[in-house]
Amino acid sequence: MGQQASSTKRGIFSAVVTGNKCIRQLFYRLRLEFSEAAAEVFAEAKPGQFVQLDLAGAALPPPKAIPEDLVDSSHRGILLRRPFSFCDVTAKDNKTSVEILYCVVGPASLRMTTLSSGNSISVIGPLGNGFSVPDGKKAALLVAGGMGAGPLIYLAKVLNSQFADIEVIAFAGAKTAEELPFEGRLDEISQQLGFSLAEFVRYGVKSRVATDDGSAGFQGLVTDCLSKWLGRTRLSAKDMIIYSCGPEAMLARMAKIAREKNIDCQISMERMMACGFGVCQSCAVECRATDSNETAYKLCCKDGPVFDTREVVFSL
Ligand SMILES: Cc1cc2nc3c(=O)[nH]c(=O)nc-3n(C[C@H](O)[C@H](O)[C@H](O)COP(=O)(O)OP(=O)(O)OC[C@H]3O[C@@H](n4cnc5c(N)ncnc54)[C@H](O)[C@@H]3O)c2cc1C
Ligand code: FES
Repeated sequence: MGQQASSTKRGIFSAVVTGNKCIRQLFYRLRLEFSEAAAEVFAEAKPGQFVQLDLAGAALPPPKAIPEDLVDSSHRGILLRRPFSFCDVTAKDNKTSVEILYCVVGPASLRMTTLSSGNSISVIGPLGNGFSVPDGKKAALLVAGGMGAGPLIYLAKVLNSQFADIEVIAFAGAKTAEELPFEGRLDEISQQLGFSLAEFVRYGVKSRVATDDGSAGFQGLVTDCLSKWLGRTRLSAKDMIIYSCGPEAMLARMAKIAREKNIDCQISMERMMACGFGVCQSCAVECRATDSNETAYKLCCKDGPVFDTREVVFSL
């Protein structure tokens, strides 16, 4: 995963569900298994790339399992596929397993919760460009807001296995401890030592947690937690790179910090996506031209979802 991160192979494939675990209320981890040609294609999937899942055929959960705020929208038909990134990809014995960390926010993700082992699902992917690693970096700072953790967990795995010289540190934030998309409770002692989230520890990555209400870790925004850390580090700006994924307001703050500190920063953006591969033009991201003050629109699904913060024009 050097400079050229994007895999050019992609297609429409059938995957078999091999797991769909509720890790805490409204947060799930779905595991899909690909065989034959699809296994080869997905074995090359990069952190930051994504799939479009067809969830039209998935059943609704029983009424008592539908969150109150989704009761009205839950019966909406699922005409369009939905985009999801990978939190893990593992290739073994001619099969490739892809894991997706997801949150129940609407009718499609609600139906996703009823998928069970043995079900088949239609998948388009891998789509988009994915994160890239410029030469010469000594430290990668992974900054996740809420569900943005998924692609950064997979990035931690790839950095650990393919870029052993790069020190990786993760920062994960949410409004409250309950909204952190991680399994189990945070161990307060290990949190004090700054080595807490099992999802990152397994790749030798230290993590720091921030919550707006202080119910776990640093009290405040994850970007403030990062700023504080940057104020203490002896690493020079040119040796570091920030990778971030989360709500757009957080990404805009991330871009400001990166600009002020002159640190390279790649962000994974989200847009409503109809097709996912550059046809419908529904996913525009306003970007600056490199050689003038003019702006132009790029497509989040095809040119992104990963962008250098220097090029993105935030509307917030
Ligand atoms: C490249 C990419 C990768 C993604 N990866 C993940 C992932 O790994 N895990 C995960 O849980 N979600 C991910 N998402 C978001 C996921 O696709 C949406 O939450 C999806 O629309 C859920 O469908 P739904 O029918 O349940 O809810 P919907 O009814 O489609 O949406 C529920 C609410 O979320 C808002 N919303 C939906 N999609 C987006 C979006 N793309 N940007 C901003 N607001 C949106 C809607 O306006 C609505 O208010 C990703 C999105 C993109 C573009
Ligand atoms: S989602 Fe159709 S062009 Fe991007």
